[in-house]
This record gives sequence, structure tokens and C-alpha cells, in this order.
Amino acid sequence: MHILTVLGARPQFIKAAPVSKALREAGHHEYLVHTGQHYDHAMSQIFFDELGIPQPDVNLGVGSGGHGKQTGAMLMRLEEVILEQRPDWVLVYGDTNSTLAGALAAIKLHVPVAHVESGLRSFNRTMPEEHNRILTDHCADLLFCPTQTAVDNLAREGITQGVHLVGDTMYDAVLQFGELARHRSRILETLDLTPKQYLLATAHRPYNTDNPENLRSIISAFVTCGETVIFPVHPRTQARMVEADVMEMLKDSPQVRLIEPVGYLDMLMLEQNARMILTDSGGMQKEAYFFAVPCVTLRPETEWVETVEAGWNVVVGAHTEKVLEALTRSLPAEYSFGYYGAGNASRKIMETLEDQHNRSH
Ligand code: UD1
Ligand code: UDP
Repeated sequence: MHILTVLGARPQFIKAAPVSKALREAGHHEYLVHTGQHYDHAMSQIFFDELGIPQPDVNLGVGSGGHGKQTGAMLMRLEEVILEQRPDWVLVYGDTNSTLAGALAAIKLHVPVAHVESGLRSFNRTMPEEHNRILTDHCADLLFCPTQTAVDNLAREGITQGVHLVGDTMYDAVLQFGELARHRSRILETLDLTPKQYLLATAHRPYNTDNPENLRSIISAFVTCGETVIFPVHPRTQARMVEADVMEMLKDSPQVRLIEPVGYLDMLMLEQNARMILTDSGGMQKEAYFFAVPCVTLRPETEWVETVEAGWNVVVGAHTEKVLEALTRSLPAEYSFGYYGAGNASRKIMETLEDQHNRSH
């Protein structure tokens, strides 16, 4: 099989690493396209180096910009690459602008689309990711769902053909790289952290970064919680914090430690040793659950409802008081396991692609 994979943003490198490994080990040819959506070393290259993902065959160098400009530039360049490569499948991941551009370019050229992490819905139409997911799912021929909730969401939209419940490739990644992280990462020593005596925080969603009031509420919670907060700052957030005069709020709070975005191995160590994780990241809500670390979600809703049902996640939005309250909550008595598959999602994806390919040839 000849597969053209489209990647562009940080979480996609992590989601794709185990699938790319499974495809290549089975002898399939993968042509890797990096759209260039993320380009800083700490947002892109570090993941290729740490996770052993082969270098992209081509980087479209699209970079940052408004949604239309960014997605449109990707679409134009992807069309050329797909025409040149004529793959059996175009494989896309998650819900970024790179995902949508890959799906649209492929369907227009009648190349089958496979979507990994299909069926997720926040039911919040103001999120760019929600547009990207819905449109990508309606282009896709194969829809790889991480959860039964995702399968049900698709069924409600009339999509029942080509739907496969395979589990979550981010869980595969945690299993594949957890041990390596324990050996390689020195982040706890570098930052002089004692396990379970710090909070880990990230925020990059427009709901938080592009609304100065929400951004200040979150930072206010970090400043007043009385605990060490390790905060790897996404470049988008860094820019908005300066614009919203948030740096001023932090100047007398050395316990809130702003650091550059970290690599995946350091992140796995920071996550599993944190007392709690505060985040608006999709991936980090799940990783908190995988490590049985309680999570506070800094958004009005979540797609990862199982983490909430299991008692390991609470959704609080950007309200300072609600965040502080969530930090003192008691932990679930039990750990209910298995909502995100058995760690073999990547193999199932590879086998399903093979199976479908053999049927059509
Ligand atoms: C994107 C995805 C989001 C995903 C996130 C993962 C979309 C619409 N959003 O959001 O779903 O959760 O990636 O991190 O696709 N920037 C840099 N250096 C970089 C990358 C970005 O400085 O390497 C800055 C630029 O100022 C840019 C801003 O961050 O304008 C936003 O980047 P962009 O890729 O548009 O969206 P994200 O917020 O990263
Ligand atoms: N991540 C990382 N370093 C960071 C922040 C996040 O390696 O500084 C990892 C995190 O462990 C998870 C993924 O990036 O696997 C999540 O990406 P992000 O939060 O950017 O996007 P989202 O999941 O919200 O789409």
C-alpha cells in the first residue's frame, strides 16, 4: 500500500508516531507530508527526533496565518503532492487545519481518506476544531474512532459506513514511549521538582488565549493557588499574554514557572509526577487519565467525556474560583480502566487499511 500521511501540528506528530511505525514495519510505503503549520523546533522537529518518526518527504512550509489563508495554502500545495504521488490512501489525524486541508484535497481528487481520531464532538460551533472534525468526518471513507462515544456521535450524523472503533493512538504512544521517557528525561532534576508537589498547566485554545478576561482568570488561579505551577507556554499563548498585560500579574509569583514548550518525553515525566494537571489541551486530558493524575479542564466542555465519567477530570471553564475549588477536590476511590482501547489502535488501523485495500484490488 502507498499511504500519504498529512501532519502539521504538535499533537499530530504524537498521534501518528505509533501508526507510522506499524505501517512501515508491515512493509507499506508511507509518504509523509508536513504542512508546516507548526515550525518552531519545540513545536515540531523535537517530536520527529524523540519519537523516531522519519523526516517528512516534503514540508509545504505553510506557516501561520488566518484560517482561510492557512487552510487554503495547504489545500493548493497538497493537491499537487497528491496528484504527483497518487496514493492508495490519504491519512489524516485529529482536528487541525492540516487535517481538513488533507481531507479536502484528497476527496476532490477521488483519493480515499482515512481519518484517525474520528467522531469527536464538543458541540461548540465556535471552536475551529469542531468545524475541522465535522467536515473531515464527512469526507472520510474510513473513520477510526477512539471511543464508543465517537462512534455514537457519527451515527447521529448519519455516518455508519466505514466506522471502526479501534481505540486511541495516543494511548499506544504513552505505552510505547513511557519507558523511554523514564530513562531519558531529566526534566524533574532540571526544574528541581519533587513528585506530586507541583501542578502542571497548559493553555492554548482561542477560548482562553483570545479572550483577555479568561486568560487573566486562569493566570489569577495559578497565582493564588499557593502551589508550584509548571506552565510550558504555547507560542500563541506567549503572544497573547504579552498583549493582555498578563506578565504583570506574574511578576511577584515565582512559584508560577513559565517555561518553553517541552518535548514529549519530558512532558510524559511532568504529567505522571504532577499532583494535578490543569489544561485546555485535548491530548493532555487523556494523558492525565492514562497516568491516573486528576485533571482540571480549563474549557466549558470536553470531547473526552469518559475522563469526566471516570471521575478523573472536571470541566470548569476559565473561572478562577471554580479552578481553585477543583484543586481541592477529593480523588476518585477507583481507577476504571480501558476507555481508550488496549494500546493496539495503531495495529488495528494498519490492518483495517490493508483489509480495505485488498478488497478493492
Ligand atoms: C493548532 C490547532 C489546535 C491544536 C494546536 C496544537 C487549528 C485550527 N488549531 O492550534 O487544534 O490543538 O494546534 O498545539 O489547526 N506559532 C508559533 N510557532 C509555531 C506554531 C505556531 O509561533 O511553531 C504561533 C503563531 O503566532 C500562530 C499561533 O501560534 O499564529 C497559532 O498557531 P496555529 O497553528 O494557527 O494554531 P494553534 O493555536 O497552534
Ligand atoms: N505536549 C508536549 N509538550 C508541551 C505541551 C504538550 O509534548 O509543551 C504534548 C502533550 O503531551 C500531548 C500533545 O502535546 O501529547 C497535546 O498537544 P496540544 O496540547 O498542543 O494539542 P491538543 O491535544 O489540544 O490538540
